[in-house]
Amino acid sequence: MDRLPRHIAIIMDGNGRWAKKRGLPRTAGHAVGAETFRRIATYCKDLGVEYLSVYAFSTENWRRPKDEVDTIMGILETYLKEAIGIIQRDRIRMRFFGDTSVLSPVLRELIAETERISDTCDGVQVNLCVNYGSRSEILRAAELWAQDREAGDTEELTEEKFGSYLYSAGIPDPDLIIRPSGEYRLSNFLMWQAAYSELYFTDVLWPDFDERELDRAIIEYQRRDRRYGAVR
Ligand code: IPE
Ligand code: IPE
Ligand code: MG
Repeated sequence: MDRLPRHIAIIMDGNGRWAKKRGLPRTAGHAVGAETFRRIATYCKDLGVEYLSVYAFSTENWRRPKDEVDTIMGILETYLKEAIGIIQRDRIRMRFFGDTSVLSPVLRELIAETERISDTCDGVQVNLCVNYGSRSEILRAAELWAQDREAGDTEELTEEKFGSYLYSAGIPDPDLIIRPSGEYRLSNFLMWQAAYSELYFTDVLWPDFDERELDRAIIEYQRRDRRYGAVR
């Protein structure tokens, strides 16, 4: 327990395949996946993990059929309506990574409300990545920096300063990134922040992921030797 990752990031993948295996529509997988997320967030809180970042919807996921996108947005809406109570109960601090300005007015309202309530919470910080993509995050950071530069900021651009323009400003990089569903890629997730993250892959599909699977990932993480380029 004294070598717990401070920050765990998860690519919540495999909902569609989980549903297909059961002869259900893909959207049924997203509903169960949302339930898995609730459980895992609570478990992280119980363990004492400080930060949990989850990939819920990527900038590329707009390429999916409109029906599926609408269902995912609907699930997010339902989740946020319920989350407001859970956040207060579990003292979860919820933040959003990604361009949420293009989401529906109802969702934007819920996001604002969730962030407002979160301000008073001091438990695990959950970063919900919605309409998030690493490349667009990095471009946005470059634009924000250029604006400050234009406005007279002459401070040297360091890695640390650049990081302060990312959605993850002020948050330590993920120690452990988990991708379920048997895919071995980052799919545009936290590419700047993942520079020295330990990567963990499992074939388990996200709706089947549970507390024991998270334990496995953490135990595997604890076996790793993190050298950061040095020798030891
Ligand atoms: C992840 O599950 C959820 C989102 C990307 C929104 P998928 O929907 O990608 O599930 P698979 O990969 O098709 O099984
Ligand atoms: C990554 O999963 C995005 C999320 C889990 C939200 P995808 O299913 O969209 O990624 P690819 O298409 O397999 O790379
Ligand atoms: Mg997928």
